[in-house]
Amino acid sequence: MTTGTFDVNKVRQDFPLLNQQVNGNPLVYLDNGATSQKPQSVIDAIVSYYTTTNSNVHRGVHTMSQQATDHYEGARTKIRRFINAGEDHEIIFTRNTTEGINLVAHSYARQNVGPGDDIIVSNMEHHSNIVPWQMVCEEKGANLKVVPIDDNGELLMDEYEKLLSPRTKLVSITHVSNALGTILPAAEIVRLAHAQGAPVLLDGAQAVPHMPVDMQALDCDFYAFSGHKLFGPTGIGVLYGKTKYLEAMPPFLGGGEMIKSVTFEKTIYNDLPYKFEGGTPDIAGAIGLGAAVDYVTNLGFDQITAHEEELLRYGTEALNAIDGVQLVGTAPHKAGILSFVMDKAHPHDIGTILDEQGIAIRTGHHCAQPVMQRFQIPATARASLAFYNTKEDIDALVKGIDRVIEVFS
Ligand code: ALA
Repeated sequence: MTTGTFDVNKVRQDFPLLNQQVNGNPLVYLDNGATSQKPQSVIDAIVSYYTTTNSNVHRGVHTMSQQATDHYEGARTKIRRFINAGEDHEIIFTRNTTEGINLVAHSYARQNVGPGDDIIVSNMEHHSNIVPWQMVCEEKGANLKVVPIDDNGELLMDEYEKLLSPRTKLVSITHVSNALGTILPAAEIVRLAHAQGAPVLLDGAQAVPHMPVDMQALDCDFYAFSGHKLFGPTGIGVLYGKTKYLEAMPPFLGGGEMIKSVTFEKTIYNDLPYKFEGGTPDIAGAIGLGAAVDYVTNLGFDQITAHEEELLRYGTEALNAIDGVQLVGTAPHKAGILSFVMDKAHPHDIGTILDEQGIAIRTGHHCAQPVMQRFQIPATARASLAFYNTKEDIDALVKGIDRVIEVFS
């Protein structure tokens, strides 16, 4: 399958893991929402770092330490460009999206939310974008307000507008739903919150692998994502924050790296972004993520998005055509997710039967139990796409579902 100059079979050759058999069948990897596979260039960047440059950053006067620092800071610059942030110091390296959100909960919300104030989330959040706010609300006597969604899995914008008020101290909403695939109108969400003076955090974990994200265009105040969903390594993530907020926020973790000077009487904190990077960072992870960003940038989102939209259209039609299969999440603007339930089989059974055929999907509540409650289902089977998937992968999924029907008939 070739879209424009995008040759998916050529692209697949960059991903060594994809070329293997699982349970006697060629691997069909459709669990990209959980984690994505890594191109050889990312693996090489990590191996090269450990075989040639491994040293601690920002500490040594020796040559390798300076090289490691250059690579680590170079990765920060690549990420700043990738999301069109204004300044390198607005890019904080974290472990993952969860840590980025918790950083904001700790260092922003705990300082700025008081009794009777509101934090707004939506009904389609990942647990990582619910639990930190529940903890803050409980501690501060604040209220967690939830924007409802409709039967397609779209945010009810008029209900959102009704929830916004001068009491709103923070809006924290996903950019793309991990359980449903809905792409939310993020810029409009931000605009409406700002009109009430409330900052906005966007959970970009499921957005960055699929579409260009632009901090200037979105005008959000915080944006969190994980490296491993963006074809980079696990253990590295990014929190973008506007300088004016990051400057005013106290550190999240105390320790080395995040200080300028320490006495028993007083500690002076380091400048941004180091104030938020206590301890030795995941240097190899950051360098690997920098290589992943290079890879995605070289492919280009025009091609990635066109290819994935075509796959999603093809997959949606194919699943809709199967009797007894129902898609969950049918918003017109979706990215990369085909969540479904079947009349006769539980999602876990679907996942097990597909696995026997070498097809990897995720089953369960996808760390988004309130979404399942909204649709009154215990779980879904979720096929999640990346740019290296093919129509043949979708055909294999359909054949696998036919097998599920056979087993349960
Ligand atoms: N949050 C990841 C998912 O949706 C793990 O699968």
